[in-house]
Amino acid sequence: MTMSFAYAAPGKVILFGEHFVVHGARAVICAMDQGVVAESETKTDGVLSVHSALESADVYINRPIQSTSRILRPFHHIARSLDCNGATLRIRSDIPVGSGLGSSSACCVAAAGSLTAICMPDTGMNSTESISIMDVALGAERSVYPDSSGADCAACIHGGIISYMRGSFKTEAPPDDMRLVIADSGIRHDTSKMVGMVREMAVTKPGIFSALLADADTVSSKAIQLVSACDIPGLGRLASENQRLLERLGISNDTLRQMIQVADKHSYGSKITGAGGGGCIVAIADIYNAKATVDALTAGGYDAFEVRIGRGAGPIN
Ligand code: PMV
Repeated sequence: MTMSFAYAAPGKVILFGEHFVVHGARAVICAMDQGVVAESETKTDGVLSVHSALESADVYINRPIQSTSRILRPFHHIARSLDCNGATLRIRSDIPVGSGLGSSSACCVAAAGSLTAICMPDTGMNSTESISIMDVALGAERSVYPDSSGADCAACIHGGIISYMRGSFKTEAPPDDMRLVIADSGIRHDTSKMVGMVREMAVTKPGIFSALLADADTVSSKAIQLVSACDIPGLGRLASENQRLLERLGISNDTLRQMIQVADKHSYGSKITGAGGGGCIVAIADIYNAKATVDALTAGGYDAFEVRIGRGAGPIN
């Protein structure tokens, strides 16, 4: 009997602490209301047939993972981890790729969720199941990006706002009126390259780097208190403080700085989100100033949109 299963996973926005989280500091991340849907269907020919906008191809599950393209390798990893005998996997996404909004983790989580359901139907869809989806999805992400802190997958799986420190996290209830404005620089970035650059700074300038790391951890801890207090303007001011730390890491550029200058005039504060070098900025806003922030960025020629904090990954009925 053929089985099929659809599983949805949201993209993510790093609110505070990107890069520093790789080196052990706390980060604050949220899920967004855009994401990926993976639909899979059983077959038994030992082939994972992937259909996605980025690449469609047959992956031979028993061949070495290195024989598969970098784009499809995470799916190969998932099929292997689940002892999958073959499946058709269709991926649909409305998250821009390579812009720091968690497209690759959302693909890993959505594919892990849908393939787990058809390859291991006895696992069941309960709360402990999300732990194994985390393991499978994070393993898949690390098959192409070994340095991943795991923060993206955790935010994607659990939804809402989470505070994350390598391997452990806590969920926080988002303030009702909070809105985020995302603006895309249109410059694709390479997370591994940017993480490598920061790692080099950690090695060559350890004194400066550890001071920045401590400051970033303090910013994230304060952010959690402000989330609990529903202090959205305070979170905006903290975003600007975080941006000053990211500038000192050298991951910013003129385009991102211009976008931040526009966003800061209308929102409570803004910063780079994700690895930097390109990708997106996030402005902290609420129901009163989100639209004005989007309009100002759009008038400045940037691709900007409003985002709400979204729910975690889960099956689609
Ligand atoms: O790939 P991006 O742009 O979402 O950045 C990932 C966030 C980093 O902190 C830079 C890396 C990580 O693994 O947490």
